[in-house]
Amino acid sequence: MATAVKQLGYIGLGASNLDAWERYATEILGLQLCERGPDGTLYLRMDDYHHRISVHPDPSDDLRLLGWEVEDHRALEELARQLTEWGVKVEHGTPAEAAARSVYRLIKFKDPSGIDSEAYYGPLKYNTPFKSPRAIGGFLTGEDYGMGHVVIAVDDLDKSASFYQNALGMRVTDIATPSEHRAKRIGISSHMIFFHCNLRHHSIAFGSGRYTKRLNHFLVQVKDIDDVGATFDLCMDSEVPLVSSIGRHANDLMISFYMKTPSGFGCEFGYGGREVDDRTWKVVMNRVTSLWGHRTINAL
Ligand SMILES: [Fe+2]
Repeated sequence: MATAVKQLGYIGLGASNLDAWERYATEILGLQLCERGPDGTLYLRMDDYHHRISVHPDPSDDLRLLGWEVEDHRALEELARQLTEWGVKVEHGTPAEAAARSVYRLIKFKDPSGIDSEAYYGPLKYNTPFKSPRAIGGFLTGEDYGMGHVVIAVDDLDKSASFYQNALGMRVTDIATPSEHRAKRIGISSHMIFFHCNLRHHSIAFGSGRYTKRLNHFLVQVKDIDDVGATFDLCMDSEVPLVSSIGRHANDLMISFYMKTPSGFGCEFGYGGREVDDRTWKVVMNRVTSLWGHRTINAL
C-alpha cells in the first residue's frame, strides 16, 4: 500500500494585482489576512492554520504551488522515497523554506505537468479562533477535508492519474465524461478524474487539455448554506464577475457557484456535499457535472 498524503493543506497562487486580491479575499471570500510577506505575499487564513492560501506577486496569474500534508517525519521520509522510486526528483526544503510556509519540515517536487508541489508535516497553528472579516459562519477544513480543492488542466491525463495514485497515494473517487459540447466549454479535451485523500470528495481533479490557465478553479467550502446565497448576492452587488449561477454538482452533491478571481481563474464557493467512505465507495462515471444550476454567466 502506497504511503498517502492526508490532505491538501495549502495552495499558493500567483497574482499580478495583490491589492485587488487583498480586497477580494477579505471582503468577498471572507478570509482573514494574517500577514503580508516582505515581497508583498498575502497569507490568508481560513481556520486555525497560519494560512491555507498564499498569494504571491507573479504576473502568471495562475497556480503556483500545491502543499500536501502528511502525518509525521516518518511519513514524509517514506513519501520522499516513494516519489524517488517513481522517478521524481525530491529536494528537502531548507529551514527557511519551511518557515516561509509556516511548517516544520517540507520536501519539494514537481508533478508530471511541472506543477511545483510540496509535502510537509507540522503546520503552525494559531491558538486563537479564526474570525472572518465578514459575517459568515466559517469554512469547512481540518484533517478530514483539507483547505478545499483545486481543478486543473494537466498535460498527460494517464501520467498524472498514475502519479497522484501511486506516488502520492490518493484514490480515484469518480470520473466525469461530459458531452463534447460541455467539455469544449470548460476547456478540456477529455474526461475528468476526481481524487480524494480523506473524506472530502475530491482534493484535486483534472482533465487533459488546455484551460486558458493551469488552474481552472479552487474551492472554499462554508459551513452554512446561507453564506453561499449571501456571497452570491455580494458578488452581484460588488460587481465581482460571476462565472455560474448556483447549482448542485452531480458527483459530490455540493451546492455552489463560481466567480472570477482578480487573477482570471475561478473560485467555487460551496456548501454541503457528500463524504467518501472508502469501505463502501464505488467508482462510477457521471455523464453530467451538475444536477441543476451552474448555468454559465461569464465563461472563464
Ligand atoms: Fe470544484
